[in-house]
Formats: sequence, structure tokens, C-alpha cells
Amino acid sequence: MNPIEIENITKKYRVREKGFNWKKNLKQLLKIEKQDYLTALNKVSFSVKKGEIFGILGPNGAGKTTLIKILAGLLLPEEGKAAINNYDLIKDREKIRTSVNILMSGGWIIFDYKLSIYNNLKFWGVAEGLRLGEVKERIEEVLKIVGLHEKKDDFPENLSAGLRQKMNLARCLLSDRPVYLLDEPTSNIDPYSAEFIRKFIKEMKKNGKTVVLATHNLWEAEMLCDKIAILNRGNILALDETKAIKERIGKEILTVELEKITPGLIRGISSFGFVEKIVEEKNILKIYGNIKRNMPTLIDTCRKYTNITGVDMKESSLNDVFLQLITEKEKTMVMK
Ligand SMILES: Nc1ncnc2c1ncn2[C@@H]1O[C@H](COP(=O)(O)OP(=O)(O)OP(=O)(O)O)[C@@H](O)[C@H]1O
Ligand SMILES: [Mg+2]
Repeated sequence: MNPIEIENITKKYRVREKGFNWKKNLKQLLKIEKQDYLTALNKVSFSVKKGEIFGILGPNGAGKTTLIKILAGLLLPEEGKAAINNYDLIKDREKIRTSVNILMSGGWIIFDYKLSIYNNLKFWGVAEGLRLGEVKERIEEVLKIVGLHEKKDDFPENLSAGLRQKMNLARCLLSDRPVYLLDEPTSNIDPYSAEFIRKFIKEMKKNGKTVVLATHNLWEAEMLCDKIAILNRGNILALDETKAIKERIGKEILTVELEKITPGLIRGISSFGFVEKIVEEKNILKIYGNIKRNMPTLIDTCRKYTNITGVDMKESSLNDVFLQLITEKEKTMVMK
């Protein structure tokens, strides 16, 4: 069985009104009045194999953190089932909690501001069940991984946002567990340290760890993840291997700036089997598909109808796919 298997997970949050309306609250409690809910996750299903890095992408409010919390056994869904490290999400919730390491965004608020970074980590190491000797050794290792060794005697309240995030990550790495759930691990972190952390995540994969990574950094996801799920408003818009997701809108994108765009030109270009999609923006055409090999044909076709004023070609990136999927979805939501 895979370390992560989830099926039709639905999570709803109660929508609270501003201020305290006891009459309404009482009616809702007595089920006289209907309670409003926000669906943060809607029938989400996927599995993650051992040693895989699974990326969760999505705009703010998409449901990434909610999903990570459910995978860690911190939140229970209203519907669906899940097994993490072969433990059932409902029956064996406590066992799940001690078999995964979670990095919460903003998780540094759990630290004691009156204790140094070193002593905070010592506290958490012991709380997680490590022996004292083991904790000391592990703290030295994790401080080096996150680049916080020189600051180990500093106090959390004196740290910048990036240093607090490093401290948060150091805590997450203390125990050696099979599954790591990382919610935006490199947010606020400088490029040098972020690169070091990414290398470490790759190492985790080599050591057979399973990683779920929620991130806003699409380039990071493209570099690290074997598989990616794109979430929007609690729904999975795309779920596939990273390479397949990137090629979803066509392998390459040709951008041609033209004097004018005519229906004949669009028909001509659309008729080619290697063209997967055309997007028209004022006097610019974006042509998606297997472009590289067919560039001369496309340029000749454009020239037949009008003058070309600019040309650019690039491989499609995760960024292009992400923007397109989210924009399309938002347009249909507005139309509905
Ligand atoms: N405790 C809560 N009570 C009510 N609504 C919540 C709660 N936590 C999250 N939500 C709502 O659920 C939705 C999903 O939130 P979530 O934090 O999972 O999104 P996210 O993808 O992690 O966003 P971000 O990229 O901003 O971190 C949002 O609409 C959010 O406002
Ligand atoms: Mg979040």
C-alpha cells in the first residue's frame, strides 16, 4: 500500500458571521436555521508512492493547508477516507500524528519566546520522543541543514520572518519519520538558503522519504516534484506527473506579433494537426503545440496573410499551465 492514499476527501468550514448573534447561533444549534458552510476541499482523491515528492499548487484559499492538516491527522474531513502510512485517518489518528513530520506555515508561533532556539528544539525533540543524547546530535544536524547554527543561542522574538521559518523547518526535521508534509517550506527564505533546503528535500527522496510539498513557487515545484495536483477552490483541476502537466497545453509556445489578425489566418493555423491551441490577444497570437519542428510552416502561413512584427518561442512551463488552468476556471465561475 502507498504511504498516502486519500479518496473523496471533503472538508467544510462553518462560515461565521461578524459579531456575535446569539439568536442566530441558537437557531443554528437547534437546527431551526441552516448553517452556512464553505467547502475547502471537494472530493479530493490521490495517492503518493514511497519516495515520491508530491506537489500541491493553487492560489490563496485553494485548500492546500487544509489538505496538509488532514494528511497529518490534525483535521478530520466530513466525507471520504484516507490512509497515511497504512493508518486509518479516523481510527488511528494518533498513530498518524507520530508517523509524519509536518511543517506548518507560520508554525513558529508554537515556540517559547523565552527559550533560545537551541532549547526550543531540545524541548520539541524530547516531546517527540527522542532520547536526550539523540536530540543533541540531531539538533546539530538540523541547524546546519537550515543554516541556523550561528544563531542557535538567539531568542525567537529577535528573529526575522525568514529566520523564524528556518527554525520552524529545523523543528520539522528533528524526528526521522517516513512522511514529510511541508507547507511552503521556502517562503520568506533567502535564495541561498532556499536552494540548500531544496537540495535537502531531494536528498529526502533519495533516502526513500515521501514528501508532500505545498508551494506557491512554481519553478520550485517543477524542479522537485514527481507529481503535481493543481487545486482551486477545493477542487483538483489537474493531477499528473510533472512532465505531463507541463505539456498539457502543448510542448512549446510560439508568440507571434502581427500587423493584423484575420479569420483566414486563424483557420489556416488551426488546420495543422500539430497545433493544440491558439490564444488571440490584440495583435498577438499565442500558438501552443509541437512548434519547434514546424516553425517554418507556421511563419510562412502567417506571412501569407499579414506582416510579422515580432516572434518568440519557448517551452511551456508549469507557470503557463497554472495560469491558464486557473484563469479558465475563474472565467467559467464568473460566467456561471
Ligand atoms: N479554520 C477555518 N475556518 C473557516 N474557514 C477556513 C479555516 N481555515 C481555512 N478556511 C478557509 O478555507 C479555504 C482554504 O483555506 P486554506 O488555508 O486551506 O488555503 P491555502 O490554499 O492554504 O491558501 P494560502 O495559499 O493562502 O495558504 C479558504 O477559503 C479559507 O478562508
Ligand atoms: Mg496555506
